[in-house]
Amino acid sequence: MRKVIFLFIVLLAASCSETNEQKAVAINPQELYSKKCASCHGEQGDLTMGGAKKIKETQLTKEQIALQISEGKGSMPRFGDRLSKEEIDALSVYCLKLAGK
Ligand code: HEC
Repeated sequence: MRKVIFLFIVLLAASCSETNEQKAVAINPQELYSKKCASCHGEQGDLTMGGAKKIKETQLTKEQIALQISEGKGSMPRFGDRLSKEEIDALSVYCLKLAGK
């Protein structure tokens, strides 16, 4: 019986540390987009506040989108100094998803 309890505790500890690690690296592009982008582009990428383009209809590639998020363009602010490369990457993929690609 003791062995079983010991095993249980070890498993529990292992599963806890695993979820903590996942939390540290997990990026939630949807949440990031809501916070940083939706004010101009809308939750579905179909808003054009302040001259923003419809992300839903973008013809840009993932690399071009990542560059635009990082460097900004026209009245779109640059996010290169506020977001990590991984976050920008995840957002680029999310934009393509909004565009149905
Ligand atoms: C202050 C408003 C504003 C915010 C915030 C903003 N954008 Fe933009 N975005 C624009 C404007 C304006 C353009 C059009 C730029 C141009 O081509 O002149 C644009 C263009 C784009 C385009 C290119 C679309 C195309 O087909 O040319 C993408 C992709 C994009 N934004 C993604 C994002 C993402 C992702 C975020 C959040 C990290 C974001 N934007 C935040 C205003 C904004």
